[in-house]
Amino acid sequence: MNPDNINILAIESSCDETSAAVLQNGKVLSNHIATQKVHERFGGVVPELASRAHMQHIVPVVDAAIADAGISKNEITAVAFTQSPGLLGSLLVGACFAKSFAQAMKVPMIAVHHMQAHVLAHFIEAKPFFPFLCLTVSGGHTQIVLCRDYLDMEVLGETIDDAAGEAFDKLAKMLGLPYPGGPLVDKLAAEGDPLRFKFPISEMKDYDFSFSGIKTSVLYFLRDQKKIDQDFAEKNMKDICASVQYTIIKTLMTKLRKAAQGLGIKEVGIAGGVSANSGLRKALKETGEQLGWNVYIPKFEYCTDNAAMIAITGYHKYLKGDFATIDASPSARATW
Ligand code: KG4
Ligand code: ZN
Repeated sequence: MNPDNINILAIESSCDETSAAVLQNGKVLSNHIATQKVHERFGGVVPELASRAHMQHIVPVVDAAIADAGISKNEITAVAFTQSPGLLGSLLVGACFAKSFAQAMKVPMIAVHHMQAHVLAHFIEAKPFFPFLCLTVSGGHTQIVLCRDYLDMEVLGETIDDAAGEAFDKLAKMLGLPYPGGPLVDKLAAEGDPLRFKFPISEMKDYDFSFSGIKTSVLYFLRDQKKIDQDFAEKNMKDICASVQYTIIKTLMTKLRKAAQGLGIKEVGIAGGVSANSGLRKALKETGEQLGWNVYIPKFEYCTDNAAMIAITGYHKYLKGDFATIDASPSARATW
């Protein structure tokens, strides 16, 4: 045991993944994720079931993360947990576990903002230079974030209604695909024609987004086509997915490009669950090549919810001495 090592145990439980990770001096030693399958048949996350599943998973997941890291729990320097945003019951499970662990092991506790962690996931392996511009796209958020330093971030623009991930999931639901639909839409889109059907691109002010218009337009489009051909959606699934994905990506990339050019920033990345989308990854690479950006695309395991990103954020907060008190409770705010 080296007393100089900073070993952060991190817990992520904001939605439907129970995850624990151990980070040593900023390097990931382990990152375990238990995905909750229980929601699939409901077509979306059921909050009460999520809380119960977190309670079942949390101890085995933490045990596995510590064992896999090759350290003992006595060597943990601090415990970080997702404080917000997320489902309140789910957040409570992680926060209560972190508090109990911190009390029992007499180590400090660090409260982490989930969206800040998605951005800092980039610093697990690559090291973007500051200022760094990050498009954070998940199931609940769509934001353009200016990072001046690890913990100095400003949201320049965001969605005024649905998030990009939500748009993918809702499209999938309209097409009868299981939840979460984003990855399936991505897969089907790869074999479809993105220019076959035209959907509207929302025009929002500055760096803001809106995705409710595209959702409604797809809904009416499918309804009208169904009147002509009952099996229209099934027959044209790949082209519909490709066309909607194309529109969502175009909306995202137009604003990201505008922000990067407006601010004169060439360090640009994407983060959050939707950054796993192959079309978005490709679009960022191509735009980066055109405009001379250094682009940052997270590894798949760090795109969707994971505790490694909570750990890296916890590590930087630890270095700043930014600890939570025992009365730190999760916030029920669904968005920030
Ligand atoms: O960041 P995340 O794991 O959880 C939240 O904080 O919301 O993001 C989940 C979202 C879901 O909406 C999911 O459908 C979407 O990310 N997603 C994708 C892909 N993989 C995950 N959307 C499009 N293409 C993908 N490959
Ligand atoms: Zn997330």
